[in-house]
Amino acid sequence: MENTELDKILVLNFGGQYDQLIARRIRALHVFAEIKNYNKITPEEIRSSGYRGIVFTGGPHSVYAADAPRCDAAVLSLGVPVLGICYGHQLLAFLAGGLVAPAKTGSEYGKTEVVAEENVLFSGVPKKSVCWMSHTDAVQTLPPGFSAAAHTAHCACAAMANDKRKLYGVQFHPEVTHTQFGTRVLENFVFRVCGCKEGWQMQDVAKTTIEKYRSELAGKKVLLGLSGGVDSSVVAALLHKAVGDDLTCVFVDHGLLRKGEGDFVERTFREKFGMRLIRANAEDRFLSALRGVTDPEAKRKIIGREFIRVFEEEAKKLGKIDVLAQGTIYPDVIESGKGDAATIKSHHNVGGLPEHMTFSAVAEPLRELFKDEVREIGEALGLPHTLVWRQPFPGPGLGVRVLGEITKEKLNLLREADAIFREVLEQNAPEELPSQYFAVLTESRSVGVMGDERTYGYTVALRAVTTDDFMTATSTRLPYELLEEASSRITNEVKGISRVVYDITSKPPATVEWE
Ligand code: XMP
Repeated sequence: MENTELDKILVLNFGGQYDQLIARRIRALHVFAEIKNYNKITPEEIRSSGYRGIVFTGGPHSVYAADAPRCDAAVLSLGVPVLGICYGHQLLAFLAGGLVAPAKTGSEYGKTEVVAEENVLFSGVPKKSVCWMSHTDAVQTLPPGFSAAAHTAHCACAAMANDKRKLYGVQFHPEVTHTQFGTRVLENFVFRVCGCKEGWQMQDVAKTTIEKYRSELAGKKVLLGLSGGVDSSVVAALLHKAVGDDLTCVFVDHGLLRKGEGDFVERTFREKFGMRLIRANAEDRFLSALRGVTDPEAKRKIIGREFIRVFEEEAKKLGKIDVLAQGTIYPDVIESGKGDAATIKSHHNVGGLPEHMTFSAVAEPLRELFKDEVREIGEALGLPHTLVWRQPFPGPGLGVRVLGEITKEKLNLLREADAIFREVLEQNAPEELPSQYFAVLTESRSVGVMGDERTYGYTVALRAVTTDDFMTATSTRLPYELLEEASSRITNEVKGISRVVYDITSKPPATVEWE
């Protein structure tokens, strides 16, 4: 995604889990940010690439450990401004001749009051504000030429500055929303210190991605698993623009789709966009592979495995296929366990891939982007609004919403209940629809009464969440009348469901999906 005309910032990654978040925050300022691993770029390459500034990310290491990830100290002498964050702050101190050691008064974690000094980095930031800390080491002795630019109760060097050399470090994380004036600090660095000009926009990503894949995939046959969700649809549009009919979309109908979804996907992409689309009807195959399986991770793995197998079989039928394209986005990557981040769930388009794959390469054009950025690209590509703003739907589909063993009967119950809930919500929505809303079929059954008859049916849980990036989410406060209408319609119209509950748990501690 090179673009030499626009100002750009290098995010030098030292293994933190916030590298993408830092890049995203900078991109949101309309300045391009590019991530490189610390050992994948030399000082000379940094100089010749014309970066206006460098951000050192956080990371789980101690700078004084023998195997600590460190870049060449020459990076500090390029005349390119540097902002070190957390581990990056400590590394900057270390490389510039300061002393880093375990914090004397113990580690700081979470929201912390920070007191800022007069400095360009804190321009427009109140003297006292709240920042988010997560560290056990601290800068004990400032490097020559640096002064402390902020402190907290336990950390004398919560920020440091060398205005002459334009080298800055912050112990806290300006990229997370818990840091009250974090965006201001990044803005100050990007615009005031580095002198960047706004100019970059999401259209540029679409353009450069299409160009990149046009040359990388020239003459290659590409296969994409199209689910009709935002991510794979955007990938389809991007790659269709890049390689045209060399892209074949395979839509695996695993029988775990929502009501009417299969036909909608087929209509939209084959008829409207004129793409080469194959619909593989594999419901029986998935259901038999899932028979008797109740463990959520096992279910996800099976669905992922079958999904790829169906692909492979379709690919074989198509003759020579070189590349498998996927709609993986950044939260999928991080939540599936990357580097030191713990595995939360194995998302089927990342963690569930079998070792053996017959494709020689994988193309994941959205791998570095967050959901809202993907939507922006979708708009930029001219995809219909309804599709771009369609709520996300997980790869394993209703497989993660039918708790316990998956059967055709349970799927049908859930499909009906889910369609009613969505309809009620869409028709009576408060101003804005929740980010995601759906029904879950629980394993719990309860007694009910209809007319004079005793019923004994399933309990359906309704879930609606509000979120920006799906990394964290809150339960949406839906009007009670709306919930009552959904409950009444579901229990009346779907025979086999006798109770409806509303899930009010946030993420964390819960996840959006139930499995
Ligand atoms: P969780 O449940 O992890 O969900 O909080 C966050 C977002 O990711 C979606 N999700 C998935 N998407 N493959 C996907 O493509 C998956 O395996 C998967 N699991 C969850 C979920 O619907 C929510 O939008």
